[in-house]
Amino acid sequence: MLKHGLLEGKKGIIFGALNEHSLAWAVASQCAAEGAKIVLTNAPIALRWGPLQELADSIGAPVIPADATRPEDLEFLFTESMNKLGGKIDFILHAVAMSQNLRRGRSYEDISYNYFQQTLDISALSFHKLLQTAYKLDAVAEYGSIVALSYIASQRAFQGYNDMADAKALLESIARNFGLIYGREKHVRINTVSQSPTFTTAGGSINYFERFYTIADHTSPLGNASAQDCANICVMLFSDYTRKITMQTIYHDGGFSATGIQVSSDKPWNKE
Ligand SMILES: NC(=O)c1ccc[n+]([C@@H]2O[C@H](COP(=O)([O-])OP(=O)(O)OC[C@H]3O[C@@H](n4cnc5c(N)ncnc54)[C@H](O)[C@@H]3O)[C@@H](O)[C@H]2O)c1
Repeated sequence: MLKHGLLEGKKGIIFGALNEHSLAWAVASQCAAEGAKIVLTNAPIALRWGPLQELADSIGAPVIPADATRPEDLEFLFTESMNKLGGKIDFILHAVAMSQNLRRGRSYEDISYNYFQQTLDISALSFHKLLQTAYKLDAVAEYGSIVALSYIASQRAFQGYNDMADAKALLESIARNFGLIYGREKHVRINTVSQSPTFTTAGGSINYFERFYTIADHTSPLGNASAQDCANICVMLFSDYTRKITMQTIYHDGGFSATGIQVSSDKPWNKE
C-alpha cells in the first residue's frame, strides 16, 4: 500500500463499502493510509448484515447509516459528518449501485419497470440527491472533490449489463451537469471513474461477469485495474494535485476503452 500523506488533514465521506471485496472498502483504507479522517456510510440493511464495523474499527472511522435514495438520511449524514469530523467535507466517494433486474435475472428485453426505476434511483439519482443535499447545506469545502464510480457500458453496449448501463449513463451526465454549477459557484470538483470489471458483490450480480472480466483483461494493454488501483486513482482525485479536473469521466481500465483489435500472439483469440 502506497503512503504519501496526500490526504493529510482532509475529511471525507465514503459510501458503499459492503465487505472487503467492495471498491469502496479499498478506497476507504487507502484514504486513511494517506492521512484522511473518514466517515463510512451505507444503507441500514447493509450495515446490519455486512462487516463494515470491522473496517471502521481498523481505520477509526465513525459509521453513519444512510439510504442514499432518501434526502432526509443524506441531510442527517452530512450534518453529523461535519460534527464528527470537525468541519466541512473535502472529499466524497459515491460507490452505490443495485439492480433488481440483474439480481433476478430479468433480461433487458423483458425488464420490470418497477425494478428499472429502483435501479435508476439507487444507482444514479442518489448521486444527484447527494450533490444537491451537500450543495444546499454548503457541506463541501472549497476545491473539494466528489467522485462516483462508473462503467463503460454507459457509452457502449455490453450485453448482460442490463438497466445498469442506463443508470451509468445518467450518473455520468449528472456529474457533468452538477459539476458545472458546483464548480463555478463553490469550486467543487465532480468526476466519475470508469473502472475495469472487478470481482465484488455488485459485480457478481452481472450475467456472465467472468467473461466481462476476462475479455477486458485480455483486451487492455495494461490488464484490468484492480480494487487497489481504483483506490489509488480515487486518492489522486481527492488530493490537491487534481484541482482543475472536473466534469470528466476518467477511464481507469488499463487502456480497454481505447483499444480496437490486438494481433499479438499471446492473446487467446490469436492462437494459430
Ligand atoms: N465491480 C465492478 O466490476 C465495477 C466496475 C465499474 C464500476 N463499479 C461500480 O462501483 C460501485 C461500487 O460497487 P462494487 O462493485 O464495489 O460492489 P458492492 O456491492 O461492494 O458495492 C455496492 C454498494 O452499494 C450499496 N447500496 C445499495 N443500495 C444502497 C442504498 N439505497 N443506499 C446506500 N447504499 C446502497 C451496497 O450496500 C453496497 O455497499 C458501484 O457504483 C458499481 O456500479 C463496479
